[in-house]
Amino acid sequence: MTRSGVPVIAVRGLRFQYEDGTVALDGIDFDLHAGETVALLGPNGSGKTTFVLHLNGLLSGAGSIEVCGIALGSETRAQVRQKIGMVFQDSDDQLFMPTVLEDVAFGPLNLGLAPEEALAQARAALEQVGMARAAAKAPYHLSAGEKRRVAIAGVLAMEPQILVLDEPTTYLDPPAQQSLIELLESLPQSKILVTHDTSFARALARRAVFFDKGRIAAAGPLDEILNRFHWERRHTVEGT
Ligand SMILES: Nc1ncnc2c1ncn2[C@@H]1O[C@H](COP(=O)(O)OP(=O)(O)OP(=O)(O)O)[C@@H](O)[C@H]1O
Ligand SMILES: [Mg+2]
Repeated sequence: MTRSGVPVIAVRGLRFQYEDGTVALDGIDFDLHAGETVALLGPNGSGKTTFVLHLNGLLSGAGSIEVCGIALGSETRAQVRQKIGMVFQDSDDQLFMPTVLEDVAFGPLNLGLAPEEALAQARAALEQVGMARAAAKAPYHLSAGEKRRVAIAGVLAMEPQILVLDEPTTYLDPPAQQSLIELLESLPQSKILVTHDTSFARALARRAVFFDKGRIAAAGPLDEILNRFHWERRHTVEGT
């Protein structure tokens, strides 16, 4: 496949050790190209979450990370955070304001937008994820699927170029998973999906990267990677 331009994310030689000595990333090279969706697969504890936490500087290891041509460092972290929208597994970690609208407006307000502008951006993002009717609700009254949508609206309100979602189908029933797939399909951003859900990965990603023990054991077309690691069968057998 031919691709033009520089990757929107370029990671080279990323290595990270937690304070207790666990080497969670042991030399990661990774590229994400404009408009593509990549699935990050691999066993529990293989380093996927640790990896994505590096992409907007929540963790910082040795090696280099470039996002939209910006070298990530302490001076550029704020700039990079505007480029990458992160959605975590537990939406409760991300929703903390009294109302859904305020929650979604929080990011743009923090960027220094005028309140009316931030609220307008928040309303547009809620519209985009189909949650406009919940604007005045308390986030903790929402269902898991609704919380996930609002968390996604919160990052869309920042107008990021890249979306990173860590286990986004957790706690969602099959209809909510399907509607999340449709929502993500409708969003033009480049995406990284960390997931154990192979049907979700199949619906959205053509390329996959397989993490194992802090390294990328393989990268390539999703089908090839799933077959090579017997990933679907292993999941069925293990019941995860
Ligand atoms: N705060 C921490 N302190 C010490 N070790 C940690 C910490 N967080 C994660 N680890 C370790 O780092 C390694 C990678 O963990 P990580 O959470 O990145 O894996 P993962 O691939 O996201 O796993 P899962 O599929 O279960 O979400 C594991 O060995 C884990 O035990
Ligand atoms: Mg994880």
